Amino acid sequence: MPTRKPEHKSEKMSKPPSQSAKQDQLDAFRETPDGEYLTTDQGLRVVSTDDSLKAGVRGPTLLEDFHLREKIMRFDHERIPERVVHARGAGAHGHFQVYKSLSKYSKAAFLQDPSVKTPVFVRFSTVAGSRGSADAVRDVRGFAVKFYTTEGNFDLVGNNMPVFFIQDGIKFPDLIHAVKPNPRKEIPQAASAHDSFWDFISLTPETAHMVMWVMSDRALPRSYRMMEGFGVHTFRLIDAQGKARLVKWHWKPILGMSSLVWEEAQQINGKDPDFHRRDLWEAIESGNPAEYELGLQVIDENDALAFGFDLLDATKLLPEEVVPVERVGKMVLDRNPQNFFTEVEQAAFCVGNVVPGIDFTNDPLLQARLFSYLDTQITRLGGPNFAELPINRPIAPVHNNQHDGFARQTMNVGVANYLPNSLGKGFPKPATEKEGGYAHYAERIDGQTIRNRSDSFKDHFSQARLFLNSLSAVERGHVTDALSFELGHCERVPVRERVVNAILANIDAELAAAVASAIGVTVTSSAKAPTMRTGRKEEPLVTSPALSMVRGAHDSIRTRRIALLAAPGCNGGSLAAMKRALEKEGATVEIVSTALGTVASVDGKDPEAVRSLLGVASVMYDAVAVADGEASSATLAANADAVRFVQEAFRHCKAIAAIGKGSAVVGAAGIPEDGKSAGVVIGIKPDEISRNFITAIAQHRHWDREKVRSQLPSVRPPKR
Ligand code: HEM
Repeated sequence: MPTRKPEHKSEKMSKPPSQSAKQDQLDAFRETPDGEYLTTDQGLRVVSTDDSLKAGVRGPTLLEDFHLREKIMRFDHERIPERVVHARGAGAHGHFQVYKSLSKYSKAAFLQDPSVKTPVFVRFSTVAGSRGSADAVRDVRGFAVKFYTTEGNFDLVGNNMPVFFIQDGIKFPDLIHAVKPNPRKEIPQAASAHDSFWDFISLTPETAHMVMWVMSDRALPRSYRMMEGFGVHTFRLIDAQGKARLVKWHWKPILGMSSLVWEEAQQINGKDPDFHRRDLWEAIESGNPAEYELGLQVIDENDALAFGFDLLDATKLLPEEVVPVERVGKMVLDRNPQNFFTEVEQAAFCVGNVVPGIDFTNDPLLQARLFSYLDTQITRLGGPNFAELPINRPIAPVHNNQHDGFARQTMNVGVANYLPNSLGKGFPKPATEKEGGYAHYAERIDGQTIRNRSDSFKDHFSQARLFLNSLSAVERGHVTDALSFELGHCERVPVRERVVNAILANIDAELAAAVASAIGVTVTSSAKAPTMRTGRKEEPLVTSPALSMVRGAHDSIRTRRIALLAAPGCNGGSLAAMKRALEKEGATVEIVSTALGTVASVDGKDPEAVRSLLGVASVMYDAVAVADGEASSATLAANADAVRFVQEAFRHCKAIAAIGKGSAVVGAAGIPEDGKSAGVVIGIKPDEISRNFITAIAQHRHWDREKVRSQLPSVRPPKR
């Protein structure tokens, strides 16, 4: 049985954690079978696990067979309820470090010392789908971070979008019921393109801003490693003097932001439903940690209403152009879990897990969340002792009188399990604030009991418009397409009409008209909501460039996945040179051929194909190049899978390269071989092609091609 180091009374909470503190704690629970005998749960060695105990070889199985009973009993109970929302996810371990002390904002111990590495565990997720659903669906992504600090666990349970659908948590069950599969048919899985979701949206104008985000490319991240994270709500930071400031939390990915295109995402879900999970796992295994900078927008306590909206309203964001995001530290996720169930599935996050120096605000969505997580985990994790599960245990010592319950592990030793007590000398005793005790911020509250919303929550459209106005033309086109797709799946015409007239027309007339014509309804409303002030009084905002994804820096191909297509008769030398050049820039390169194994070349430099055209598709790569060589090109140009590979890469606006004769395959895909299409690199000099190809891949997508993709000839069906 794994043993746990006893927590000693004299443990000081303020001593810096070693980076391995959490890992060491988890390691104490790990069990490795190497060189061990097979036993029952009672530690009894068993002689066979393949045959049950019977009365004669052809006789009945005996009830006495405790090994059979135990093995089947354990199997029967392997499943636990999946999360009600965010059921599908992936996790990773790592650490967080501040760049310099943040004592000017917060007294939280983990924010003080740049030499301290605080262990973290992060779980990324989708929201609507079940645990076995596909990764690349159109959805919000969860971004939940557990900091194991010396003062207890701090959970920053955020999303990859800075706003939310609703303003008050009491509507959360309605929102989730509307988006989840139909209760009669349990259809559709992990999708919002259906009547009940859009029915709810059409009747709930506060969703307008979030709907723009979910219909944008933000809902289709290329990778968990390439998306932003947000705490969404306004929180408080409290300094050592007790001064409070409001704060918005941000995570900025070091690799920048990239998205998939919708058609590609749909194909990925069939070809590789584990696309994001695999991407995170493989990047970490190959020594490429997922990295994010922590950003803060710190606001004066008195400025909650200074920006034209209410900072307590979770459907609003604070534009970075108005209050810049200060980058204060870095999180590095560099270790994969060793056991998915105990580390990822049993992880229990709660927005209520805070440490001294961090506090809440009255955001009514946040307030409901404070109850929900703790409550749901009682059912999901089978009782109230889930904080004792290895992944959830704080590295700070735990002492209290909360005892017993299902699956209790701690054996409390003592004569008094109550306070005040004299029998136990008054221990465990409450701490003073100076001793690290958590004291809630003493906010002055003075109000009447009321079931209503503040007038400061009533503008639902200005920021939806701000978001739309901030997108590039391409991104805006994607929003129109996404809305047309989603609403096109709504069977009831009145639902479609209401979304167009009650929501979209209030945001933008052009958007409403474009969507209406795509889904066969008419715009009847000219009631565009007035533009409210967004930003400080002296500087109202029309656009916020920081909201666009394509405007960010695209200067690296690190961890991008690139396919090199080659067939027998290829030129191995130039292909190897390109592979080396790409790998030098940090890309992952795979040779794809008509069959796995060695590909015979014309120059004796035979490449090794690690994938075959039957097993992979271009949607699983960021870019594709075709090898030189007459015979190789002829084979690939006649192979419908290879042609489709290149053509799909073109449709999805990815970088494409062809060395020498490889251009024939590009031509067979209906792509001009003159090398003039954006992001299509064709030539005979391998060095030059590699250089240009690298620049083209770093752009991630060549959106100009979207206009021409529908002009490509259709792909011939594969020859089998
Ligand atoms: C800003 C709004 C919200 C954000 C950013 C958010 C984020 C998240 C995230 C990231 C998770 C997954 C945690 C994990 O990885 O285990 C989660 C789970 C969950 N959320 Fe939220 N959520 C929001 C609103 C709400 C609201 C309003 C409620 C209820 C009132 C709620 C209830 C839940 C529940 C019940 C779970 C499942 C928790 C578990 O089983 O461990 N969420 N949420």
